[in-house]
Formats: sequence, C-alpha cells, structure tokens
Amino acid sequence: MDSDTIHAKIIDFDNADDLNICMATETDIDGIIKVASSVGNSKKNHKQGFLMDNYLRDKEKYVSKFKNDIDNSKLFYVIKKRDHVLGFLLAYTKDQWLKSEPKWIFDTNWKDDFNKKALKKFVILEKIAVRSGLTGRGLGSELFKKFKEKSLNLGIKNMFSETILSPKPNFASMEFAMKQRYKLAGIRYENFEDKLFTTIVYHKKLSK
Ligand SMILES: CC(C)(COP(=O)(O)OP(=O)(O)OC[C@H]1O[C@@H](n2cnc3c(N)ncnc32)[C@H](O)[C@@H]1OP(=O)(O)O)[C@@H](O)C(=O)NCCC(=O)NCCS
Repeated sequence: MDSDTIHAKIIDFDNADDLNICMATETDIDGIIKVASSVGNSKKNHKQGFLMDNYLRDKEKYVSKFKNDIDNSKLFYVIKKRDHVLGFLLAYTKDQWLKSEPKWIFDTNWKDDFNKKALKKFVILEKIAVRSGLTGRGLGSELFKKFKEKSLNLGIKNMFSETILSPKPNFASMEFAMKQRYKLAGIRYENFEDKLFTTIVYHKKLSK
C-alpha cells in the first residue's frame, strides 16, 4: 500500500503519528463522502472554502463517481487518523481531464504571457477537501505534498488547479493557491446547474 506516516508540522493534533496518507480505496468512500458533504452542500461558505457540488443530494451518484475515480486515478489520496478520513485530494492526468472536459484548453482565456508548452503534459488538481472544522491545520498542505511527489514520479512537471471567483469567491482556496505559489494562468467561464461561473485557472511548475 502506498502509505506514509506523517511527521510533519501537523499542529493541534494530540498524536500526529496516527495520521497517514494513502491511496483512496473503496473502504474510504463513506469517509470521503462525509468530508465532501461537510464542505460541499447547499451553504457555500466562502471563508472556509467549498466544493461546487452538493454531496448531500443524490449520494449514490457521488459514490459511483468516487468509485470510478478510485479505479482510474493514480492520484487519489486520503489523509486519515486511524480509519477516519479527514481529507482527500483527487487529481487527473491530462488525458483523463480532457475526457471529461474536452474543450477545457480552448475554453480557457489564457494570459498573454502564459507559456502554453505547459499544456503538453500536465496533471490537474480536480478536488481537494479537508473536513469542515479541521481546516488550517496543515492537512491540505500534506495532501498537496504527496500529490506533488507522485506527479513528479510519474514524470509530470506541470500542474493546474481551478478556483471559483464568482458567483461566490472561494477565499480559502485562493489563499491555499497563494501558499503553494500557484501562478495565475487564465480565466474560464463555465455553466454549472444553469448558473454562470467564473473560475481562475492556476498553473504551477512542480519541483522537488
Ligand atoms: C482549501 C483546503 C483544502 C486547504 O486545506 P487546509 O488543510 O485548510 O490547508 P492548510 O492548513 O495546509 O493551510 C495551507 C494554507 O491555506 C490557506 N488556508 C487554508 N484554509 C484557509 C481559510 N479558511 N482561510 C484562509 N486561508 C486558508 C492558508 O494560506 C494556509 O496557510 P497558513 O496556515 O500558513 O495560513 C481547505 O480549506 C478546504 O477543504 N476547504 C473547503 C474545500 C475547498 O475549498 N477546496 C478547494 C476547491 S477544490
């Protein structure tokens, strides 16, 4: 199993040795849905951060989506304290991403000085979430570190990530992007459940 004990700067946990990051498996799905629905529901808290979907609605749909992601993504991680899922990160390779968003490259308004060579081979951080009430303790950063290492091991040096700017800005996600030193690469407009969304597209050159 791809699992690491975390000895890093997780603060405020009684025993950080209980924490570990591993690839998501089917037994984690319930915990993943609990985390996702704690920050992805009808209330979109822009300070705490939020996921676009409402995971409290149509749970079965998300169970089958995550099951599919477990089967197909090489970059689907959970951070756990013993058996409890506290957060997760899901990323796609370029091929996987363009299968679900075939027009993404053309629909994004790239910044004039953005070097499009980065689009040749990349990973996209599709979703990262930490259970509501446990954010700001370093869990997201640990997940990101693991994702970065694995992407580099796969020979991928470019990553993208998206953050919603409107109708409601996701401040936690923007701050997280700043912390990880993402660079603004473009802006995308997207229709989601009959609403127009404006999304920041970030790029980061991955290195050790
Ligand atoms: C975005 C998210 C995954 C970050 O995880 P996290 O465990 O809180 O992140 P960390 O504790 O490692 O913090 C890293 C940095 O992120 C920023 N950050 C995280 N949460 C924040 C918040 N609520 N408000 C402002 N900044 C925040 C800070 O810059 C922080 O650095 P600092 O601790 O030096 O101030 C988490 O806030 C979350 O799950 N939010 C809800 C879902 C979401 O918005 N996902 C992103 C869109 S897919």
